Amino acid sequence: GDLLIQICASDPLVVPVAAAALLNRAGDRVHERWRQSGRRGTNVPVGAELAAPRNLLGFIDGIVGPHTAAEQRRDLWLTGPSAVAGGTLAVVRRMELDLPRFAALSVAEQEAVFGRRRASGAPLSGGAVASGPDLGAKTPDGRYLVPANAHVRRAHANVVGAGLMLRRSYSIDEPAPGLLFISFQNDLRTFTATLTHMDAADALLDFTTTTATGTFLILPGFDRQRPLGAGLFGVHT
Ligand code: HEM
Repeated sequence: GDLLIQICASDPLVVPVAAAALLNRAGDRVHERWRQSGRRGTNVPVGAELAAPRNLLGFIDGIVGPHTAAEQRRDLWLTGPSAVAGGTLAVVRRMELDLPRFAALSVAEQEAVFGRRRASGAPLSGGAVASGPDLGAKTPDGRYLVPANAHVRRAHANVVGAGLMLRRSYSIDEPAPGLLFISFQNDLRTFTATLTHMDAADALLDFTTTTATGTFLILPGFDRQRPLGAGLFGVHT
């Protein structure tokens, strides 16, 4: 598709109504090609002014990301070309999750897949939820506390050598239980390099099947003086 529209509401009934109204206003100029609804679970506080929901596997999802203004300037917002400065790039990816097979694992085995505690979200290397995992920490007999193939190690920005991505994913139950993964970053390589590093050996991938993917430019914010896309299309009020 050419255009991504994300419609969010705290009351789920509002979403299809808003979608129908927007499509009606667009008339023949816009044809809907693909639609996916998803839900965010209840937010769990994970740090100062930061909260994230659980996903269908039961783990808190959305802890690590560009949360400070400096990190957002570095890794989230586009600095140019000037028409899109202040915008960002979105990767949308629908993944089915094998819930029965994951549920058959013990809690310790599930936690080894991610590298974090299921109940609290704390890294297996210890410390608070919001603190990143200590990837060098080992047991007395020399095994990594965060296993070599744990998702948080394989996807870790420093291990990958990429920037931070703002992950804001949604749980889905249609067409199959899974995750509508959405990440925002100012460089697509942040996503592709992370995925390549995961592909080589990420325990989580045994439980996921990707069934849709796309990337989109997200325009900078707008106000009455500068409508959405004003910089790109030269619109002035
Ligand atoms: C259905 C598939 C996926 C699930 C269920 C999932 C879930 C999670 C969870 C629970 C965490 C740990 C908590 C957190 O930091 O938010 C995490 C971390 C992370 N995930 Fe995923 N994820 C999935 C796929 C992906 C994909 C495709 C990417 C990118 C290519 C990705 C990138 C990351 C990153 C960058 C982190 C932070 C790692 C760190 O620095 O600790 N994930 N994910």
